[in-house]
Amino acid sequence: MTTLTLWHNARLATLDGDGWGLIDDGALLVEGDRLAWVGPRTALPPALVPPGTLRQDLQGALVTPGLIDAHTHLVYGGQRAREFELRLQGASYEEIARAGGGIRSTVAATRAADDATLRASALRRARCLRAEGVTTLEIKSGYGLRLEDERRCLAIARQIGEALGLQVRTTYLGAHALPPEFDGRSDAYIDAVCAWMPTLQAEGLVDAVDAFCENIGFTPAQTRRVFETARRLGLPVKLHAEQLSDQGGAALAAGFQALSCDHLEHLSEDGIRAMRAAGTVAVLLPGAYYFLRETRLPPIAGLRAHGVPIAVASDHNPGSSPGLSLLLMLSMACTLFRLTPLEAVQGVTVHAARALGLPDRGRLAAGLRADFAVWELAHPHELAYWFGHNPCLRVVAGGKECC
Ligand code: NIG
Ligand code: FE
Repeated sequence: MTTLTLWHNARLATLDGDGWGLIDDGALLVEGDRLAWVGPRTALPPALVPPGTLRQDLQGALVTPGLIDAHTHLVYGGQRAREFELRLQGASYEEIARAGGGIRSTVAATRAADDATLRASALRRARCLRAEGVTTLEIKSGYGLRLEDERRCLAIARQIGEALGLQVRTTYLGAHALPPEFDGRSDAYIDAVCAWMPTLQAEGLVDAVDAFCENIGFTPAQTRRVFETARRLGLPVKLHAEQLSDQGGAALAAGFQALSCDHLEHLSEDGIRAMRAAGTVAVLLPGAYYFLRETRLPPIAGLRAHGVPIAVASDHNPGSSPGLSLLLMLSMACTLFRLTPLEAVQGVTVHAARALGLPDRGRLAAGLRADFAVWELAHPHELAYWFGHNPCLRVVAGGKECC
């Protein structure tokens, strides 16, 4: 028999529809891992609540959908604080990468780390996200860059979800950087990335495929080859696009019906139109913008004007965004990118769900997953207002309280 629990005396922000979807004195009926009913308590049909139903009194607290971090690189070895110092002294992210630091230094540290070390550090990071209401997160590979290490990182990402009661979507980012053993042979490396893809997919480790299309990453032609392989295997794609320059990556990805294009500071009008036509989500990463001290803003007005859905994610990684607070990203999305608090919160709920191709979450509505967070807040716009402290009281994922 599935458990039935009535969560009541709550202020709901359902995010179902165009606005906050506020419901005062709301109730959520949870059956197993699903929301069986959502609405004002007074409208709840008594027949749905048989005797024996468990009850949880939320004492007027705010409830939102569980937050979704749609872009992280959570599994890696080492850290890059020294590189941060170099950048503060004037070196650019690109210069450090070209000098063999950057992603490559994390690849070396990841390859050298044993599974237990990688798992323990990734678990610590995922716990930080969960403590702020995150119930679904995406984790990319991309610091292994050879079959056995990409496999290890993806498998550890999966284990994180199981250990913490979270849903983890894994993304294969073999085309993140050129590993040293392929120096001067980037096309041969792309051959290898494509050859590993069906193996990793067959092992159940890949939900989507990503690439870093950039002058310090891979060319549009190489990215296309990765996407063609993904398409043959039926895997959805997404792209690190237009972060440092305009490579036309967003339009390329949209041609493959990409779930999302991420970063986008250098996105062109053509790229916006292509994303709109393909239904591709724009994932903004204010943590990377902040930490790399970028000055060029993503084209928010253009995205809005064309109706491209906007998500917001942490991009947690040791080089460009070592933060572990999705709430801080909401604040930054508003202060740095001028998103409204509603847009920012939609960006970590309903639009983030879309960026991961998961229509069964990101809102509070009957039939969806019972993923929600309880907050010591009066109104959901406060999620983007406070920063540096955590007002999250409880986290429920798939109907189970996990934090
Ligand atoms: O999303 N741009 C490429 N990938 C990461 C950074 C990775 C790193 O510096 O280690 C990003 O910003
Ligand atoms: Fe990233």
